[in-house]
Amino acid sequence: MSEEPQLEARLESQEEFEPPASFVEQANVTDESIYREFEENWPEAWERAAELLDWEQDWDQVLDDSDEPFYEWFVDGKLNACANCVDRHLGERADQTAIEWVGEPGGTRTYSYAELHEEVNAAAAALRELGVEEDDVVTMYMPMIPELPIAMLACARIGAPHSVVFAGFSANALAERMQAADSEVLVTCDGYYRRGDALDHLSKAREGLEQVEDVTTVVAKRLGADAPSAVEDEHVYESVVDPHRGTEVDPVTRDAEDMLFLMYTSGTTGEPKGVKHTTGGYLSYTAWTSRAVLDIDPEDNYWCAADIGWITGHSYIVYGPLALGTTTLMYEGTPDYPEKDRLWELVDSYDVTQLYTAPTAIRAFMKWGTEYPERHDLSTLRLLGTVGEPINPRAWRWYHEHIGDGSCPIVDTWWQTETGGMMITTLPGIGTMKPGTAGPPLPGISADVVDTDGTTVDPGEGGYLTVDRPWPGMLRTLYRNDERFLAEYWQEHSDTENDNWVYSPEDGAKIDDDGYITILGRVDDVVNVSGHRIGTMEVESAIVGVEGVAEAAVVGADDDVKGQAIYAYAITEAGQTETDEFRREVIAGVEDAIGPFARPAEVVFTPELPKTRSGKIMRRLLADIADGEELGNTSTLRNPGVVEDIQQRVQERETE
Ligand code: PRX
Repeated sequence: MSEEPQLEARLESQEEFEPPASFVEQANVTDESIYREFEENWPEAWERAAELLDWEQDWDQVLDDSDEPFYEWFVDGKLNACANCVDRHLGERADQTAIEWVGEPGGTRTYSYAELHEEVNAAAAALRELGVEEDDVVTMYMPMIPELPIAMLACARIGAPHSVVFAGFSANALAERMQAADSEVLVTCDGYYRRGDALDHLSKAREGLEQVEDVTTVVAKRLGADAPSAVEDEHVYESVVDPHRGTEVDPVTRDAEDMLFLMYTSGTTGEPKGVKHTTGGYLSYTAWTSRAVLDIDPEDNYWCAADIGWITGHSYIVYGPLALGTTTLMYEGTPDYPEKDRLWELVDSYDVTQLYTAPTAIRAFMKWGTEYPERHDLSTLRLLGTVGEPINPRAWRWYHEHIGDGSCPIVDTWWQTETGGMMITTLPGIGTMKPGTAGPPLPGISADVVDTDGTTVDPGEGGYLTVDRPWPGMLRTLYRNDERFLAEYWQEHSDTENDNWVYSPEDGAKIDDDGYITILGRVDDVVNVSGHRIGTMEVESAIVGVEGVAEAAVVGADDDVKGQAIYAYAITEAGQTETDEFRREVIAGVEDAIGPFARPAEVVFTPELPKTRSGKIMRRLLADIADGEELGNTSTLRNPGVVEDIQQRVQERETE
């Protein structure tokens, strides 16, 4: 970090904002005593979250911690997630909009709770007819079209866990995730619209399926006449679902601890981790945080502008909001198409009450200028939220002033795929907001910032973020890999001999005198590009997979809009020329292995990588070089001479 931003962070963090009175008057949670209640009555206080749901059978015990850290929540409780998100709203809110979907080229689809019920039942019956049984993992490889949440809910209805693979992932990434989950059913679609173009998605899905055996595929038609190729031997979504319209499929009774879904995420090794979430704890937790933090009421027009292919969309487009019976908005496209005011046009047209988005988007809006939001009436907004990466104070203030008109609280919510839902943030009707700082842990969440010995650091000092008590939304394990679950999340800070289990999120953080936590970024080899988590090892193995590359090192470099950008250093094999064409091949290799969102912003060819005496690549140094930082002492390197050469090559690339 250069001197200047550090200074900005210090000055700005002293700035404080109180929740506006107009918001507090109507907020779902306004009494500060909630923190104490959770503290004094933990873990039983978590019943408050579970009570937001309808249970077929009540739980006997709130938390079973007899086999730490394999915690169980709401033990022996029985419920169905789909029944909670759809059926139970039919009485009072059958005609209320559940999902409002807007296509990028225009065109909308509106599903009332009654219509959603019909769709989900028909899809559930179709999946059953295709042979899907309880506990079979169904993969979904779909963009933001209504069939995605419908298929997820249909799976939940019949007790089949879903594994959604973000549509931006490559064919290889899809195949890898289907194989890892032993998934034999895929729901996908022909394509979608992006910045005015009809994109072919089916060819990518088919390419992935070449590597997976015996898969039953269902293809939803988004493009219709624009579809790039006719659907051949796959099942067309409409033709398997339509015959079941009007059919009712009884929601399967699931145990609280039964798996609701799997979500693959990046870690320190090249192999993605299958994060397992369960039915009772996850749904209680997302419903509770949606209500307490996003302040969702059934009457709201709530919009989380994320993609359902990532955890934010699972928890806060689908499960949390629908469990509360609200209207959740879904938008297919990008914020700058057809013009840079698209989001604000939608906020205006749909009277959006809460907007939840990522700092990377806010930084792009800032760059585009205030004229775009100024074209529209945004006065229906009462709360703003951010997630996925730290928000710098300047972007926070811009969001507050130009989108929220100074009258909306902002919740800066820290959480992860693994946590299932929000963990650290202010409660919008209670907490003082400090731009740049996520806030205190939520009631019932116990977090700390510690040094390598596990000792709490002093206020203002950097350290490792830890969570030292379980919570209902937590991952239960990594799919079929308890060992990796223990190694990745529990080994580092737990004192297992004394049964003191501490979860390690792998984030750096600092804490202030008021207990507010500022997230400083990942401490493992994971890069956060536009709020998307990408393992540097995954990118490195994709690059060395390209013929002609001998070795690679990938780091995150600072980026004004994306937060971080992928910076790759590659050593070519003897005889391979370092041409622009080869650089493009390297980039294409990453797109094929992972997806275009993981594309390196820069590839620098270098004859050597800086290494420690024990042979470890000094990634920190490579990141500093990418950021143009002054470098500290490099004399401990095995090959200090290489540094200057790399610096020069980076400068050459930048001036090109
Ligand atoms: O580094 C933290 C960052 O995103 C990581 C989790 O990524 P993922 O599992 O993909 O989930 C993203 C959406 C929940 C975290 O380890 N992160 C998330 N939220 C914040 C954040 N960093 C700073 N501030 C946040 N509010």
